[in-house]
Amino acid sequence: MFAQLFILTISAYVVFGDTNKVPPYVKQCKESDPQLLDCLIGALQHLSPYLATGIKEIELPTVEPFQMDELTLSLTTGPNGYKVSLLDIDIFGASNYTVKKIKLSENGKPFQAIINIPELRINAKYRSTGVLIILPASGNGTFHAKFKNVTAVVQGQISVNYKGDLKYLHVDTLNLDLDVKDAQMGVKKIYRNNRILIEAINLFLRENGQEVLKAMTPQLKKKLSTLFQTIANQLLTHIPMQTFLISGSSS
Ligand SMILES: *[C@@H]1O[C@H](CO)[C@@H](O)[C@H](O)[C@H]1NC(C)=O
Ligand SMILES: *[C@@H]1O[C@H](CO)[C@@H](O)[C@H](O)[C@H]1NC(C)=O
Ligand SMILES: *[C@@H]1O[C@H](CO)[C@@H](O)[C@H](O)[C@H]1NC(C)=O
Repeated sequence: MFAQLFILTISAYVVFGDTNKVPPYVKQCKESDPQLLDCLIGALQHLSPYLATGIKEIELPTVEPFQMDELTLSLTTGPNGYKVSLLDIDIFGASNYTVKKIKLSENGKPFQAIINIPELRINAKYRSTGVLIILPASGNGTFHAKFKNVTAVVQGQISVNYKGDLKYLHVDTLNLDLDVKDAQMGVKKIYRNNRILIEAINLFLRENGQEVLKAMTPQLKKKLSTLFQTIANQLLTHIPMQTFLISGSSS
């Protein structure tokens, strides 16, 4: 029994080498692969269902939903401008991404990835103050949105760290640009359920979807960049580079 275990252990060691077991969420690529970029795109794509469920052993929480604390928007100007706060924001659909293109970091230039997400569904608490058209619009309720055909262009700088003879990557900076082809937004359950106010807010959101999105974008970009960077580094500090990128020119 012990002898068998011993042999199993030894053979596992021989097969996988020193960096030993490859976790299921890692799809390995070879540095010498002439289609290396396609392989890396496949590796990122391979991660998607694991990001959906979260990866317990490396303390990576699920991205379904993706959570954000707060966005504040000034939607009309003037002393009694219509201001909206969105709180406890849950974003669903981010794990359902398609990696369209990647460019590796070269000569100090940033890496780049272009990612498409067919649909993001957003639920949040809604609070508003001010006047909308002529209606006093102070109230609270829930906010719901669908962002369709979302393209994110992610760029960043990477550094390399060594721990013993293992090499680890770290994302030092990350920037993100967002393009949302179609944004649908609305509110529900406004406190004391004022039907006229709900309709006025929903009409405003429907007619000014792209404007509201524009008001959200700077905060959204900043928060999403931080979240993406955290996720990337959570993965990269746990997976030595040798585990996902096999070096050398072995066939
Ligand atoms: C993922 O995207 C596909 C289209 O690319 C869509 O059919 C599917 O419903 C989406 N799944 C989720 C969970 O959003
Ligand atoms: C709106 O505010 C009222 C009163 O403060 C509170 O009882 C209610 O739960 C709030 N609704 C939402 C959706 O936050
Ligand atoms: C998403 O937008 C791009 C253009 O940015 C377009 O080429 C593509 O067909 C759109 N996809 C869907 C599913 O509408």
